[in-house]
Amino acid sequence: MDIEKLLREMSVFEKIMQCTQLISNFYRGTKLEDNTANAIGPYTQLGLKQSDIYLAGTVNFLSDETGAMLPSSELRRIQKECIEKSPHHIPTMFVQDVIHGYLTIYPIPLAMAASFNPSLMERCAAMAAKEASANGVDMALGPMVDLARDARWGRVTEGFGEDPFLGSLMAKASVYGFQGREYRIPNDHVGSCVKHFAGYGAPEAGRDYNLVEMSELTFRQFYLPNYEATIDAGVMAAMSAFHAFEGIPITGNKKILKGILRDELHFDGAVMSDYAACNELITQGVAENEKEAAYLSLEATCDIEMMTTLYAQSIPSLLEEGRIKMSQLDDACRRVLTMKERLGLFDDPYRQCDDKKASSLFLCPEHRALAKEAAEESVVLLKNDGILPLNDKSIKVALIGPLADNPRILGAWRCGGLEKDSVTMRQGLEERIGKENVFMAKGCDIDYKGRDESEIPDAVMTAKQADVVILCLGEDEDDSGESASKTNLSLPEIQKKLYRAVLEANPNVILCLFNGRPMILEEESKTARAIYDCFFPGTECGHALASLLFGDVAPSGKLPMSFPRSVGQCPLYYNHINTGRPRTDETHRCWNQSAYIDCPNTPLYPFGYGLSYTKFAYGKVRLNKNKLSYGTKDSLVASCEVTNIGERDGQEIVELYLRDLVGSVVRPVKELKGFQKISLRKGETKTVSFTIDESLLAFVGSDYRKRAEPGSFVCWIGPDSEVKEGVEFVLTKEQR
Ligand code: GLC
Repeated sequence: MDIEKLLREMSVFEKIMQCTQLISNFYRGTKLEDNTANAIGPYTQLGLKQSDIYLAGTVNFLSDETGAMLPSSELRRIQKECIEKSPHHIPTMFVQDVIHGYLTIYPIPLAMAASFNPSLMERCAAMAAKEASANGVDMALGPMVDLARDARWGRVTEGFGEDPFLGSLMAKASVYGFQGREYRIPNDHVGSCVKHFAGYGAPEAGRDYNLVEMSELTFRQFYLPNYEATIDAGVMAAMSAFHAFEGIPITGNKKILKGILRDELHFDGAVMSDYAACNELITQGVAENEKEAAYLSLEATCDIEMMTTLYAQSIPSLLEEGRIKMSQLDDACRRVLTMKERLGLFDDPYRQCDDKKASSLFLCPEHRALAKEAAEESVVLLKNDGILPLNDKSIKVALIGPLADNPRILGAWRCGGLEKDSVTMRQGLEERIGKENVFMAKGCDIDYKGRDESEIPDAVMTAKQADVVILCLGEDEDDSGESASKTNLSLPEIQKKLYRAVLEANPNVILCLFNGRPMILEEESKTARAIYDCFFPGTECGHALASLLFGDVAPSGKLPMSFPRSVGQCPLYYNHINTGRPRTDETHRCWNQSAYIDCPNTPLYPFGYGLSYTKFAYGKVRLNKNKLSYGTKDSLVASCEVTNIGERDGQEIVELYLRDLVGSVVRPVKELKGFQKISLRKGETKTVSFTIDESLLAFVGSDYRKRAEPGSFVCWIGPDSEVKEGVEFVLTKEQR
């Protein structure tokens, strides 16, 4: 398509409508209840004529009133109308929140990060893209890559945790999986839209949509890398975040969107606002009215407004008044049309989407198998006194808890995932050891308001009959995700009552936690015999957990976010600075140190931590040299012998951490700079090596320039971020 020629022929209104995103309801004659007008934008007052909607550049929310995904035949019908009823027959583009699966749902992204397996991430995203594109979706509104350190924020569930090295690799893998690796996005892939640019993961007090207040140095050092990784991978679009940063909401923040995202990071794709975020410039008090909100958004180079029509209402007069130039509107429209070019929509607006093809892919055995594999690799074993793996010979299991026979284990952004397709814990265990060996009891409700203790006695009786208790506790899948911030990260009181009663009846308790975020497990960590952090494992939950519990596969996941001891520690993260008064004694009260008087500084479970069914011994770190020449391509190799000293084969994620002892700005006490997932048979030893060059030592200085600085560094290789023994090396300017 000759986009420049098309632009020359299009009317101003056509260009404006390409920059407008509507929802599928408009094309199906159904209305969404506008019960939260202020929050999601006054779409009922959009001021559009019916004929206008066929000019909309993109269409979102491709589901019906039940939440089920519309079939591709329905999207084909809408597309046909848009082509026929628009002056230049420009196809629209269908977008959908495909975050961790389309109909076959794999684990939440926070859990996928726990796999420390980017290629697994890529395979899963590719699976989601295959199902979504077959059903007519052109672009996923993902990956969500907001770095997050505060478990009170519900959307930690959607991102890759607290570390930018791990987060960047998972983010890049997601884009490759969704889009493929070429500029032209093949029909069995979808475009992707990195979100939410930028820094959305650090809302004050962990409360969603709240102010994000941090130094630009921290913003650049920790929060930008994940987005940069997606730009390196060719991400097609970006979504501007809701929050204010440096006093200006991102959607109207020219410094962030134009200055950093476009001019500095050279992102030339389309930027779309988050849902009604343009309109919320008024609510946030930086725009007096819709015209000013439109002006700020377009000036900031926000190309697409999601579910508002400020551009349609205001750009004509802004043009007449000369406050914006036609070239700005052309630039925005060009970036929208370029997405369609990358997708091949001008050649085939339907991209060969087809109901039959789609239904043959949905939940097919291959996709279920991949979802199960992903769940097995992303569950984290936090504690095991030896009770696991269970022996499946004549064992009687009491399966208890509100999440024991519950299909709501898909996660907050479950897209088209349906509960009827979920494999529950009960189904997985009954299939694994036989119904006659699984005694069920719900015990209590899941929610924080639950007070009904009437089912606890039955759970106690059930626990007494069994050899072991698998206790399934945690959150409802909608208790994390968007607008699901919490001030209390402990298990609900009613669940704690159930836990204590069951433990008293049978001490052989294996706690399976279902959670979209780190939770407080201080009490349970002392008394459960084993603890699995399952997160929300997705469609194949029960099959994956049964395989893990009975040792068909060994757990290998490791935490992508620190688990605090108390919510008072939030935000809590491993790559913190030393302070001038670091805490030296975690067991006694410390005066004049950066410490709490009522809680250690350390997490209950640290970043990078996870157990297996065997034990791994780490040798000393060895360096092939301890000097690196500054300003060159010089590198050294750090190695460590890892031995499986346990009784079973297993996989281990070996982690490399570095510390810059002195910098022109304070530097973290540790930073993840490499990891390798290795398999070791019982008794086997492998040498794991990492190459360290200046690029791994680079950081953002006060001038916001990324560079390494000569000086001393410490290198650790270990099982998690609390590894102790390291070795030093120097980056030196001396002539060798
Ligand atoms: C929501 C989310 C965003 C999502 C969009 C469209 O408010 O913030 O992640 O893509 O709306 O559903």
